Amino acid sequence: MFRSSILSILFGALQATAQTCQLQFDGRVSKNFTSEQFDVQNGLFDPDYVKGKGLKFSELLEITDETTLFDVNSVPVFLTINDSSIFAPSETNVQNGFRRAELLPASNNGTDPSTIGVKTLHFSLAKDPARPLNFSHEYQLVFLESADYSTNQFVLKTGTILGGNTSEPDTLQVYGNVNKGAPLLFQAPFSESVVHNFALKLDFDALTTQVYYSQDDEPLKQVTEATPNDISGQGQFHFGILKKPTGPAEDITREGYQPSGIEEAILYGGIFQEDSADGCISLSPETACQHKDH
Ligand SMILES: *[C@@H]1O[C@H](CO)[C@@H](O)[C@H](O)[C@H]1NC(C)=O
Ligand SMILES: *[C@@H]1O[C@H](CO)[C@@H](O)[C@H](O)[C@H]1NC(C)=O
Ligand SMILES: *[C@@H]1O[C@H](CO)[C@@H](O)[C@H](O)[C@H]1NC(C)=O
Ligand SMILES: *[C@@H]1O[C@H](CO)[C@@H](O)[C@H](O)[C@H]1NC(C)=O
Ligand SMILES: *[C@@H]1O[C@H](CO)[C@@H](O)[C@H](O)[C@H]1NC(C)=O
Repeated sequence: MFRSSILSILFGALQATAQTCQLQFDGRVSKNFTSEQFDVQNGLFDPDYVKGKGLKFSELLEITDETTLFDVNSVPVFLTINDSSIFAPSETNVQNGFRRAELLPASNNGTDPSTIGVKTLHFSLAKDPARPLNFSHEYQLVFLESADYSTNQFVLKTGTILGGNTSEPDTLQVYGNVNKGAPLLFQAPFSESVVHNFALKLDFDALTTQVYYSQDDEPLKQVTEATPNDISGQGQFHFGILKKPTGPAEDITREGYQPSGIEEAILYGGIFQEDSADGCISLSPETACQHKDH
């Protein structure tokens, strides 16, 4: 009796100082996870999509002992691509133009609540100096693909954008809906040996996107206003490497130039989504709900 009332007082005090935003999904990988768990239903990510035909996630994903801003009791993972990273959604649809390795949150089936209301998507990523990307190519590193596969409502890209005119390829570039002119919302140098932390506040009612960003263990800072961006159409969040081809191609999913002998990797961590309908956004793990703007 005494003990439980002390606990409830303590719990109340903790809640008052560090109110935690309600989670929609959590993709943070606990320290005791094994890579083989990524090949079976694991509650974090879909074991089947998106990866090269015949490959297993356990072969293209490495659990690390590094840290990222929101990996307090969890660890980030390296995702890798090589010449075998050719996704084939069916026998007749073989995506020879792309090299892909992407994680999709387990609960994010395309019509679930992660793409309705007001949600904030968190992720951190970093280069692997030993297995660099090739900035002559365009890469998608995080994106939302609509449920009817007709568009990406936002995309974090890097490299030389196809059909673009990229003066600084070695940057992280957040674009809005690619079918609505893909406006550039935010960019930052893709510095090596730095973990880049992002949060995207996605208002699926007002159709806006707002970017928060920081490096290493710095708390997130708001870097854009809530910018009009058509994020309707629900769909699925992708975290990973989608390398596009160079050279002329009518259908870049199947054609275009991809050099052989590649070995490229990106570190991903701190992937989760919280409900921001009440303005709750976690800017750092210590003060999970530090910021409220209505
Ligand atoms: C991993 O650790 C978590 C708590 O941190 C625990 O709930 C879970 O059972 C552990 N899983 C395994 C496979 O040991
Ligand atoms: C790519 O990596 C996978 C997983 O390690 C491996 O099985 C495959 O042989 C590699 N492909 C090439 C072309 O090196
Ligand atoms: C997708 O998830 C939502 C929410 O969990 C559920 O209501 C719906 O039935 C699921 N749809 C499919 C096709 O599994
Ligand atoms: C980078 O990609 C370009 C275009 O595909 C290619 O010509 C070049 O050889 C690649 N560089 C490396 C170091 O692989
Ligand atoms: C491409 O970049 C050059 C140099 O910055 C600029 O003069 C030109 O207008 C740009 N073209 C397009 C289509 O943006």
